[in-house]
Amino acid sequence: MTTLSVTTRTPAELPADTLVVGSVSTPDGPDLATGHGLPRKAVVHLQAVLADVEATGRPDEVVRVVAVPGVKATSVVLTGLGEGTTRRTAYPHEVLRGAAGAALRTVRGKKSVALALPTPDVESLSAVADGAFAGCYTYDRSGPLPARRTGATKGAARAASAGPRITVVSGAGQGKAAKDAVARAAVLGAARDWARDLVNTPPNYLFPASFADAVKKRASASTAKISVSVLDEKALVKGGFGGITGVGQGSANPPRIVTMSWAPSAPKASVALVGKGITFDSGGLNIKPATGMVTMKCDMAGAAAVAAAVLAAAELDLPVAVTGYLCLAENMPSGTAQRPSDVVVMRDGTSVEILDTDAEGRMVLGDGLCLASEKHPDWIVDVATLTGAQVVALGTDIAGVMGNDDTFRSRVVDAAGSAGEGAWPMPLPVELRKKLETPTADIAHKGDRDGGMLTAGLFLQEFVGEGIPWAHIDIAGPAFNEKGPKGATPKGGTGFGVGTLLTLVEGSAG
Ligand code: BES
Ligand code: MN
Ligand code: ZN
Repeated sequence: MTTLSVTTRTPAELPADTLVVGSVSTPDGPDLATGHGLPRKAVVHLQAVLADVEATGRPDEVVRVVAVPGVKATSVVLTGLGEGTTRRTAYPHEVLRGAAGAALRTVRGKKSVALALPTPDVESLSAVADGAFAGCYTYDRSGPLPARRTGATKGAARAASAGPRITVVSGAGQGKAAKDAVARAAVLGAARDWARDLVNTPPNYLFPASFADAVKKRASASTAKISVSVLDEKALVKGGFGGITGVGQGSANPPRIVTMSWAPSAPKASVALVGKGITFDSGGLNIKPATGMVTMKCDMAGAAAVAAAVLAAAELDLPVAVTGYLCLAENMPSGTAQRPSDVVVMRDGTSVEILDTDAEGRMVLGDGLCLASEKHPDWIVDVATLTGAQVVALGTDIAGVMGNDDTFRSRVVDAAGSAGEGAWPMPLPVELRKKLETPTADIAHKGDRDGGMLTAGLFLQEFVGEGIPWAHIDIAGPAFNEKGPKGATPKGGTGFGVGTLLTLVEGSAG
């Protein structure tokens, strides 16, 4: 297991396998960033190496140097921070996070790694710790999956992928604030890795019932007291959850709503998180083309982020009551599948005309938002890989944030910023609401292609209880990384949203 600790010891003397130091690009070429505290002969050697390998000091550039004179660690890894100087101490947190992550990705087998990057304050220390932890992730096929055929036993495979002991050299001292920041990064990192594992698990292994079991298992293994309850397909029909029931009815793997609660004594606030958990989105009868279907095991990333955020909030003992609602279903075509033009009745009695069975996320979330609203929380946030339109508008690195309250929406965008996750505010224009009008039911679940991210948001808004501040985070792009790893982000499931949600909950802690 990856562990994190903080030290103020001299980096050159740390007995680590690898010492990570920053490199920067300056007008005179690549150089070392501040924070390394290395002796002159080490600096001279590393500068010579940077020049010789024609390094740039740009982000995601990593140079490894063995046997550096005056450095106890076996190797030094230089990780790019981009433009800087040998005296600059303040770097953007996402740059530090990415640089730490990129460095740790290149030292997979090492048992101990120390980082001496510029960390003049607790926030930058947090960013380095968070990025370093996040960079250690590998999906190791543990759990119910078949073992590797290479002859390695499952246990051995897992031991090989056990993370390193990470020590962050702190420029912000090693007082309580620094220690707390690193402890938080470890809890967040482990929770985010769980979310990544859930997303990466093949959909024949992760379906609604097995997802619910995984949540129960993880909750009971946790040091924190988290209660988990599950509504199965019968309970969902009985409870009038027509949205999720309709989506799930075409699959041999029936739907579930999992409720996870962290309920501290004397909470400062009570909040709800709702996650889209489509364990596979084939599109249903409106079947997706092959190219659009191949990544659709990631369509439960919102539910995974919610589950991980509840876990982290509980393990950090936050004085906020947090309830997560995971809306789990598999969207499949079959003789029992929902049809385009069906009308279903949602949990709150709203009738909805289904126009396209591939617009299933909003149906399961609508029921989830009704259920969350019934408890009158102080606010609700839902997270969902909801629309291709989000990817068209903002690309694969930036989530779209919508909501019914501009102040609250800004809080969500700010939380994403401080968690190092990209997010941008998006409107819910009332003029677009008429696209959802239909003579056949109270509302249709989609409009035309134009503004598809926004009409999806407007649909969800219908199911949010009166007066409850609500935000919707569309993570269709950032949830799953089809390209290569980058900074602290691995290929595959990214765990996007876990940091944002945790930061947001912390913001309600008074
Ligand atoms: N799960 C998809 C959205 C998606 C697309 C997630 C790409 C991740 C990457 C969602 O259920 C979907 O199919 N949305 C449709 C809605 C449309 C039919 C109104 C879309 O965006 O095309
Ligand atoms: Mn779909
Ligand atoms: Zn979907």
